[in-house]
Order: sequence, then C-alpha cells, then structure tokens
Amino acid sequence: MTTRAEAIKALEASHVLQNYKRHPVVFVRGSGSRLVDTDGREYVDLLSGIGVASLGHAPGELAAALTAQAGELLHTSNLFFHPLQGEVAERLARLSGLPRAFFCNSGTEAVEACLKFARRYWRTRGANERHEIVAFEGAFHGRTFGSLSVTAGEPYRAPFAPLVPGVRFVSPTDPGQVRDAVGERTAAVIVEPIQGEGGVRPVPGATAAAIAEACAATGTLLITDEIQCGLGRTGRPFHGAALGLTPDLIPVGKSLGGGFPVAAALMSEAIAAAVAFGDHGSTYGGNLLACRAALVFLEALGNGLVERVAAAGRRLRQGLDALVADSGAIHEVRGDGLMQGLEVDQEVADRAVDCALARGLVINRTAGTVIRLLPPLNISDEDIDEGLRRLRLALDDAGAALRAA
Ligand SMILES: Cc1ncc(COP(=O)(O)O)c(C=O)c1O
Repeated sequence: MTTRAEAIKALEASHVLQNYKRHPVVFVRGSGSRLVDTDGREYVDLLSGIGVASLGHAPGELAAALTAQAGELLHTSNLFFHPLQGEVAERLARLSGLPRAFFCNSGTEAVEACLKFARRYWRTRGANERHEIVAFEGAFHGRTFGSLSVTAGEPYRAPFAPLVPGVRFVSPTDPGQVRDAVGERTAAVIVEPIQGEGGVRPVPGATAAAIAEACAATGTLLITDEIQCGLGRTGRPFHGAALGLTPDLIPVGKSLGGGFPVAAALMSEAIAAAVAFGDHGSTYGGNLLACRAALVFLEALGNGLVERVAAAGRRLRQGLDALVADSGAIHEVRGDGLMQGLEVDQEVADRAVDCALARGLVINRTAGTVIRLLPPLNISDEDIDEGLRRLRLALDDAGAALRAA
C-alpha cells in the first residue's frame, strides 16, 4: 500500500520542476516551533521555513486575522486606495526611519525594486553615468536578473549569464577594496549586514565603517538587505543600525508576513521623490491579505518580540557555545540573536540535516559547511533547549556515521 508521503513524493516527482533537492519528509501541520509529518512524528523547528514563520506555525492571531480579512476583501490591485498599506508603511517607517514603502511579494522583488529605484534616483538627477552597483563576495540577494546580478555565487549565476552589467564585487573582509570600488560611477552599495545564504557571516566593523565613509564621501546610495537578518531576527528592528549603517533603501521580506508572502522596499524621501507614477509596480504587491499578515507581525514586533528575541538569542548562543566546547564537530559559531551559523567539516555538513531530521530536528545547511539556525522569533526557552539537545545528538550521529563510512 502506498503511504500518503509516498503518494505526495511520486506526484511531485512527475509534475513539479525538479529544481529543489528535497529532504525526505512531508510536514503536514505545526504549532509554535514544532512541526508534524505525515507519520505523526514531531520535530523541533530551528529553521522556520528559512526565516519566514516568524510567529511560529499556525499562530492563532495570524490565522484569525487572515480568516477575517479573507471573508471581507482579499485583493483589489494597486489601482485603488488601500485600507491597510498606509498603516503597514507607517509602522515600517517608524521602525526603520525610512518614510516610504513599495510593496511586493518576495525578497528578490524587494531587492529588484531597490536596485531600480537607486538607478532612477541618479537618472532623475541627470547623472546617468551613475549606474554601477558595488556588492560583496558571498552575497545572496535573490534570483531574478537584477538581484542575481548582485548575488555572488557562480553556481547561481553561471547558468543564466549574461547578467545585468556594471556590478563590482569586493571582499567583505577588506575595507580597502570597498573604498577603492565606490566612486563617481557608483549608484549604490548593497550589503547584507549579516550574510545569510553566504554562511551566516556578519559584516566586520571595519568594513561597515568603510561602506559608511565611502557612501558619505561620494553621495553613493546604501542598500542594506535586511530580508533575512532584519525585522527583529537579531534582537534589533534592523541589524544595519548595529553596524552604524544609515541606509537609503532597505529591502525587507521573510519574517514580515509570518508565512504569508509579502515584502517591501523601504526608502528615503529623496529616493521616493525621484520615482514617478508608472515607473514600477506589482499586481499583487501588498494586497489586503498580505498587509493584514504584516500588521499582525508588526504588532507582535512592537509588543515585546524584539526584546524576546534578544533574550532567546542569548540562550541559544550560550547553548551553542557549550556545544562547541563539548563536541569536536563545530569549529566556529557566528551570528547574532536568532540567526546563528555553525561552521563544521564538509563531511559533517553533508550528513547533519538528515541526522537532525532522524532526531526530530529541522535545521539547514548553507554555503557548504555551515549549519544555519533561524528559529521562529517567538520560540520558547523549552524549545530552544530541546532543539539544542537534539542538535547535540544529531552531530554525534553525523560523527559516528562518518567514522563508520
Ligand atoms: C538576504 C536575502 N536577500 C534576498 C533574498 C531573496 O528572497 P526571496 O527568496 O524571498 O526572493 C534572500 C533569501 O534567502 C535573502 O536571504
């Protein structure tokens, strides 16, 4: 007899584009930081759908708000005034200091919008030659052509070349390269305050200072990509502020909808003033359901969630540091708050995710040798401790499997 999981996998194998190598588990429900698969097995989720399920799984307040909104009005397009966009934009403005928002559906679209608005800013000023972008080695900003063009990894880029021209990549650990690259032809510098896909790598303070200096000296715009590390994830509304960065544009996404697809490009008044009617748009961007979800998340963020992440992040980090001391498998822990990465050997990384799943734990491997943890922002102390316990077992299992191989 075919099980439900087997039937699901077979149907996908026949009809879904095979661009994701999926792990062999089918989650069917969840609650808080726990997920349940087709066999009724429960998992501690330290990944939250790659930093998206910010309020945990099946959060009551989000489900209720979306249900109520769906019963009232789902979508009217951006051709008409909107009962909720102003409210979401105003809350994001209070958090970020950037007074205007453009709404879209995903991180890559938010980055795309930031790149277009940066170019538009200079073009409006008659400085058409300022179209270059400075980006960083190790960066990940998305997979559409503009954001792919500022994404560093060759495996992402090579199959789709040629990309958008005029992008210069510099080392995130060499402030001198930043100073040399930014000049009178640069429209914007784009940086993740903590590189996510690139292996949970915080921007070093000296590089952040060089970015701030170079942008100030040349009038270059600064885009801090907070899609993964922002909106509370590190125990601050935005992580760029912790590095002394004052961006002109911030793309946000992931956590914003708690699982509902919504993203935004936040911008200064000067940039907003350069964008004319019809310059850019999105059919779905920030529709009523999306904005309702964002309001629920932003309400939670303003009601103690940021502070809770800071405390939870300290607990997680202490547990990880203890794990480093006890286990020979981890070489380094990097990150901040509830965004943590563990550097391990390639052979351990190859086995870690499957060993974790076997122990009832959801984690992720990125950049080859990094185990990434991005739990729900409201994860409980108990689930952090249980997640750490299972992680320890999974790493032991990975080590044992390696020795047996
Ligand atoms: C920093 C950063 N920017 C952009 C993106 C792209 O977001 P999306 O996958 O929603 O298009 C991601 C996704 O992982 C990201 O981490």
